[in-house]
Amino acid sequence: MQTNDIQKAAHIIVSGGVVAFPTETVYGLGANALNPVAVAKIFELKERPSFDPLIVHIDSFDWFAKLTKNIAPEIIDFATHFMPGPLTIVLEKSEIVPDLVTSGLNTIGIRMPNNSIALELIRLSGCPIAAPSANKFGQLSPSSAAHVRKQLPNINYILDGGKTSVGIESTIITFTGKECTLLRPGIITLEEIAQHLPEGYTLTTKKTKTIIAPGLLQSHYSPKKPLFIFDTLPEKFPSKSGLIVHKSIKVPNVEHCIFTSQNENLLEVAAQLFSSLHTMEDNKNIEQIYIQAVSETGLGIAIMDRMKKAAFQWKVE
Ligand code: TXA
Ligand code: MG
Repeated sequence: MQTNDIQKAAHIIVSGGVVAFPTETVYGLGANALNPVAVAKIFELKERPSFDPLIVHIDSFDWFAKLTKNIAPEIIDFATHFMPGPLTIVLEKSEIVPDLVTSGLNTIGIRMPNNSIALELIRLSGCPIAAPSANKFGQLSPSSAAHVRKQLPNINYILDGGKTSVGIESTIITFTGKECTLLRPGIITLEEIAQHLPEGYTLTTKKTKTIIAPGLLQSHYSPKKPLFIFDTLPEKFPSKSGLIVHKSIKVPNVEHCIFTSQNENLLEVAAQLFSSLHTMEDNKNIEQIYIQAVSETGLGIAIMDRMKKAAFQWKVE
């Protein structure tokens, strides 16, 4: 990665354009968050419904004061435990944030990515960068520049930072008074959040109807081929099946088998989840994909969340 590339990308952002860039979770499709005309281009490219708000990426804590209001100082202290890192916090927004970014909500999702290219891009652009994951709405999230190119061939610039390390999108939480609610599970678990919550704050996972977070829809992140989740390895697979497993097993008779991990290491499974699904989606000899479940505790909650959403539309009742 050349510094020049980041400068070029920053120049595009400052001029009101759109750039794809790496974060530690997945690639983002970014534009100047304070320029509604630029932000509109993201919705158009992604074919994203305008009711789906964007996360705003920052490079320093100074942005909290500019982008939010009525925030208790202890929430900023809390944020410093996790930022930069894969956590998005939804807070009351200030007037400078265009309505298009937040889909008319009075809240804004803020995240400081733990990726040097992303942080440098924001710094050189001199503005917060609104960015959803750089995929077509509803399709698989991108964990490499090639994944971005596959779905969004028309974007004019992709900063290639290699494969992302975390592999699934950030954990999203919101604060209402002293209540913290999980909106989307991620690599930062409920246990870690609970450990750092300010005194007197409580943590819930209840879903609120008033906040629309399509990441919470039942179907999302889908491959273009049928995907089935299994607990126990089936004895036989239909012909042209792709198999994704998370520990070393004797490979059954399938077209292609991917091991996300040799020993169910959930960090490895998360990092490989979307890329293994992309590989299966791209393989013309595969007609359906089978993926092994992981246990739904800790980081397994976020992995199963993405897996179930990816498989939802193929569910056989
Ligand atoms: O890791 C990530 O979070 C990646 C990288 C690029 O940062 N971004 C990402 O963005 O996953 P996106 O747009 O694909 O998912 C963001 C989710 C959406 O489901 C959106 O509805 C929710 O965040 N969101 C954003 N702002 C919100 C708000 N003010 N209130 C509730 N949900 C919000
Ligand atoms: Mg997304």
